[in-house]
Amino acid sequence: MAELATRSKFSNRMAFILAAAASAVGLGNLWRFPYLAAKYGGGTFLLVYLLLVVTFGFSLMVAEIALGRKTGLSAVAAYRAANKKFAWLGWLTAAIPFIITPYYSVIGGWVTKYMVSYATTPAADIAADGYFTGFILSSGPSTYIWFLVFFACVALVVTFGLKSGIERSNKVLMPLLIFLAVAIFIYVMTLDGSGAGLKYYLVPSFENYHNVGDFVQLLIAAMGQMFFSLSLAMGIMITYGSYFEKHENIEKSVRTIEIFDTGIAFLAGLMIIPAIFAVSGDGSAVATHAGPGLMFVVLPQTFATLGVAGRIIGFVFFALVFFAALTSAISLMETCVSIVQDQFKTSRKTALISAFAVVALMGIVVNMGYNVWLGADPMHTIFGTPYQANQILDFLDFMSNTVFMPIAALFTCILVGWVIKPKAIIDEVEEGGVVFKAKGLFSVMIKYVAPIFTAMILVGYILNTFGVIHL
Ligand code: PHE
Repeated sequence: MAELATRSKFSNRMAFILAAAASAVGLGNLWRFPYLAAKYGGGTFLLVYLLLVVTFGFSLMVAEIALGRKTGLSAVAAYRAANKKFAWLGWLTAAIPFIITPYYSVIGGWVTKYMVSYATTPAADIAADGYFTGFILSSGPSTYIWFLVFFACVALVVTFGLKSGIERSNKVLMPLLIFLAVAIFIYVMTLDGSGAGLKYYLVPSFENYHNVGDFVQLLIAAMGQMFFSLSLAMGIMITYGSYFEKHENIEKSVRTIEIFDTGIAFLAGLMIIPAIFAVSGDGSAVATHAGPGLMFVVLPQTFATLGVAGRIIGFVFFALVFFAALTSAISLMETCVSIVQDQFKTSRKTALISAFAVVALMGIVVNMGYNVWLGADPMHTIFGTPYQANQILDFLDFMSNTVFMPIAALFTCILVGWVIKPKAIIDEVEEGGVVFKAKGLFSVMIKYVAPIFTAMILVGYILNTFGVIHL
C-alpha cells in the first residue's frame, strides 16, 4: 500500500492519545452530557451510558482505529478498501462532520461570548433571568459575530497547521479543567438542596420510566451521546488510526481515551446537576433546564453566589470550555477539509476555502433559526411537517446523533463482524506481539450484540416517534 509508506506517524502512543483526547473531550462532555443526564433521569442515564462505553464504545473504537491502521487510509477510502460494497458507508460517515461542525461552532460562539462577558461584566448580570435567551434570541448581529469569532479561531488553526501546538497545551489545560470542575463540585455541594441533585445523578431510579418507549428514548440518547463524545461513527478514529504505528497498543490507548473522556463527562454532570437543584431549591427545575441552555444558565447562577470570585471562576471556567471546544472543532473541521481534498481531488487551498464556506454558511443558517426565522410565529413547515424555527440546532443534532451515527455504527459492525471478520481486526491489534486482552468481548459485541441492539433501538425509536407502534 503506497500510501502507508508515505504517511507521517504519531511520534508515540502519548502523542496519539493526546490528539484523540483533544478530539474527544469537548462540548460533548461539558455541555451535552450533563443536559442529557438531567433530562433522561440522572442515575439511570449515567449507568446505561457507562455500560455502553465499556462494551459498545470500546469495541467500535478498537475497530475504527484498527481499520485505519490496517488500510493506512482515511474514512471514505478505508471503507472502500475494506469492501467495495461498503463505499457508501464512507460517504455517510463523511457527511456527519459537515452536519455537526456548523452547530458545534454556534455553541462554541456562545462559549466565547460567555468567556468574554465574564471579563467585562459582573457575575450577577450574567446570572440574571433571561440573559441567555436574551442573547441567543437577539435580533442584532451579536450572535453571528460570536459564531464567526469562534469559527475564525478554528479556521486559522486548521489553515496554518497549528494543531499540534494547541494540542500540547492540553497537557496543562486538561488537568486545570479537571481541577476546576472538582473545586466547583465541592463548592456546589455546600449549597442547600444540592444533596438531592447528587442523589438524582448517581442513583439509578426506574420510577421515571412509565413505558418501554421512555426507556428506548433513554437508550437512543445514551447511544448517540456515546458516539458523539468519543468521536465515533464518523470516520475520525479511522483517520487517526491510519497515523498510528504498528507496534503500538490499540487496546490500551482506547481504554485510556475512554477513561479520560468519560471521566470528564462524569465530572461535568457532578458539577452541573446538583447545581440545578441548588439554584432552584428542588428538582422541579430539571424539566425546564434540561436542554441545550443548561450549562449557560445554571453555572452562572452558581458563580454569582460567589461574588467577585465568581467572576474570576466564571472567566477561567468558560476559557477552559472554550479551549476544549476549540480542539474538538479543529478535529471536526480538519475532517471536513480532508474529505473535500481526498474525495474531490482538489488542492489543499480549494479544500480549505470550500469547506470553510459550507460550514460557515450552515452555521449562519443555524443561527438564523434563533432570530430572523423566529418571527412572531415560530412554527414553520418543511415538507408539510411543522417545525419550530429555533430548533434547527436541535434538528441537526438529532439527525447526526440519533439517525446517521447509529446507522453508520450499525453498518460498521456488519462490515467488521461479518464481511472482513473480527479476526482481521484482532490480528491487526495483535501486530508486533501485542496481546488483545478483550478480544472475546470484542468479537461478540461487534458481531452480535452491538448490531442487534442498534438495529432494535433505531427501528423501535423511529416507529414509535412516527406513531406506527406504541412502546
Ligand atoms: N467528541 C467531541 C466532543 O465531545 C465532538 C467531536 C465529535 C469532535 C466528532 C470531533 C469529532 O465534544
